[in-house]
Amino acid sequence: MRHEAGVQMASASVDNKWQKDAADQNFDYMFKLLIIGNSSVGKTSFLFRYADDSFTSAFVSTVGIDFKVKTVFRQDKRVKLQIWDTAGQERYRTITTAYYRGAMGFILMYDVTNEESFNSVQDWCTQIKTYSWDNAQVILVGNKCDMEDERVISTDKGKQLADQLGLEFFETSAKENINVKQTFERLVDIICDKMSETIDTDQTLRPSTTITPTDPGQQQASSSCSC
Ligand code: GTP
Ligand code: MG
Repeated sequence: MRHEAGVQMASASVDNKWQKDAADQNFDYMFKLLIIGNSSVGKTSFLFRYADDSFTSAFVSTVGIDFKVKTVFRQDKRVKLQIWDTAGQERYRTITTAYYRGAMGFILMYDVTNEESFNSVQDWCTQIKTYSWDNAQVILVGNKCDMEDERVISTDKGKQLADQLGLEFFETSAKENINVKQTFERLVDIICDKMSETIDTDQTLRPSTTITPTDPGQQQASSSCSC
């Protein structure tokens, strides 16, 4: 079947990149992040803008899952981000949710010009609760804020939902490069804050160990971060 062949290709490409990525051990911490949300909200565009500073208006729907790696410096620490870009299409849900395990942060995205994508946010939260761990940090993102004329979800409505769900909130544009870097940096900061809290409250954790969340087949024990 075409669909399954496509998924196998995507998986081979992920495996290749995974081997290359594993070779680079030059970091203090590694965080696994996921971008989730309905198809066409702009997840891939958001990641390309952040990792490569590029944007294309062509829509090539993601098959299965893919990832990019970017290293950032926060609070004197070299933090390697492994950012997984998931397919929004329902038919890939079994594959994509398998990658939720071990993720430390999620960017949950809707499109401010697409009401259905906004109405799906609650369902995506449920998916996170079901397939991820309790300490995963989530940021709600309303993308395509450059399209003011076609906007159907106001900023206030987005903020309200974020408050209801207890999430931080950004409106962004992958196209115009608005709040893309800020979203990732905020997510890294709140993960670090959360880990510091965990160290403070859990005497069994050792401050010098490294966080290395991995792919679904290679889950390892995670520990602490003091950044
Ligand atoms: P799936 O892979 O199917 O889950 O979709 P996706 O969420 O990855 O969407 P993608 O990034 O492929 O973007 C869908 C379409 O929206 C593309 O045509 C993009 O060019 C466009 N797009 C993405 N972000 C923005 C944005 O911030 N502003 C505008 N105007 N268009 C955007
Ligand atoms: Mg995509």
